Amino acid sequence: MKKVITYGTFDMLHYGHRNLLERAKAMGDYLVVGVTSDDFDRRRGKINTHQSLMERMAGVRALEIADEIIVEEYVGQKIDDIKRYEIDIFTVGSDWEGEFDYLKDYCEVVYLPRTEGVSSTDIRTHNGALALKIIGNHSVAVKFAKECSYVNGVAVTNDNPDAVYIDSHPRRHYKDIKKALNEGKHVIAESPIATSGAECEELFALAKANDLVLMDGIKSAYSTAYARLLLLVKSGAIGSVVSVDATCTSLEDIIRGPEDIKEKWNSICAWGPTALLPVFQILGTDYKSKNVTSFHVDEEKTFDGFTKIDFVYDRAVASIKVAKTAKSEGNLVITGTRGYIYVPAPWWKMDYFEVRYENAENNKRHFYQLDGEGIRYEIVAFAKTIETGRNYSYISEEESVAIASVIEDCMNIWKADVR
Ligand code: CTP
Repeated sequence: MKKVITYGTFDMLHYGHRNLLERAKAMGDYLVVGVTSDDFDRRRGKINTHQSLMERMAGVRALEIADEIIVEEYVGQKIDDIKRYEIDIFTVGSDWEGEFDYLKDYCEVVYLPRTEGVSSTDIRTHNGALALKIIGNHSVAVKFAKECSYVNGVAVTNDNPDAVYIDSHPRRHYKDIKKALNEGKHVIAESPIATSGAECEELFALAKANDLVLMDGIKSAYSTAYARLLLLVKSGAIGSVVSVDATCTSLEDIIRGPEDIKEKWNSICAWGPTALLPVFQILGTDYKSKNVTSFHVDEEKTFDGFTKIDFVYDRAVASIKVAKTAKSEGNLVITGTRGYIYVPAPWWKMDYFEVRYENAENNKRHFYQLDGEGIRYEIVAFAKTIETGRNYSYISEEESVAIASVIEDCMNIWKADVR
């Protein structure tokens, strides 16, 4: 019996896929089809597939051409599969010409002509890409624009956008977001989306009323490692959490004078949302009390060079340390009753973390791929939410409001201190 194998993403199944599978099947007696897992596709840089692995596998199954369907999960798996399934022929479309010649050591390799005029990418962008306008020229906005180019179905534009990305200044976010929502645009904004809890709530209500998406842009929330860390903590891997301690500092912004103080982001706005994220996502937003200590650059106390906030919860505590005129170890430690999680600096670009126990033999290290500091996945989540009407955001409205409220409280405390 001659066995043939082929691999693909098979997103939004089309006749190009059917053609390929039919020809592959005709080359032998038994066809194995490898469908790439979502994680594997992400790692290959194929981002924003529209269907889940289950849906894509169901699509291939429904064609009734494949004799067996498997999942492709890791680099090098093709070699394992060819050996395990005793494959005679490996085949893929000619867009991969030459790419899999290394498999010739294991079986015959055939590149089949690709069907002209159709691709999943085309279908995904069939209704036109999501036209996104970038507002702001902060370095993060520049990165954001670059990351858009990696996401299928999102195009950066200046005219007539469907959506806007806002990275102006925390002081102007509320006004800019409100304007965009009133003009019927979906919005993703760098956090904080407003500098008061009430304004933040108002913006979410406005988005809802206009049937628009408003997303809080904290890229760290979209790192796979961070998302898995949260799930691990919630499933009790370190027992009950008693403390969350997050530090974020950066010294690259030199504060030279009044203009910088006015235009640059102070420490609590620049780093507060990121540092608060694990606190609120692990312990909730319902803390009993907090204590804020800030050291300012200016006498008016608008620009904190350093801020430390201690939170007290019912049966836990948390602390965040943020700074733009001081440098510290930017790690994240989550203390539990059975063990702790340690994420080395810079934890906000998380691709690795360690779960540690009293008995070090039980320690576990977790590694994940991180592309574009999480921004790429954040854009995918935004585009998918708009397109499907389902919420793909990793930050809840309640968390966004809590973040804005903390910033508001800090500014009120500083103001009272000047008087
Ligand atoms: N294929 C083909 N003809 C097409 C499209 C795809 O022969 N018009 C083949 C590919 O060469 C590959 C298999 O179908 O062997 C699965 O391809 P996949 O990457 O899933 O589909 P694409 O439509 O190429 O997807 P994308 O646009 O996301 O790259």
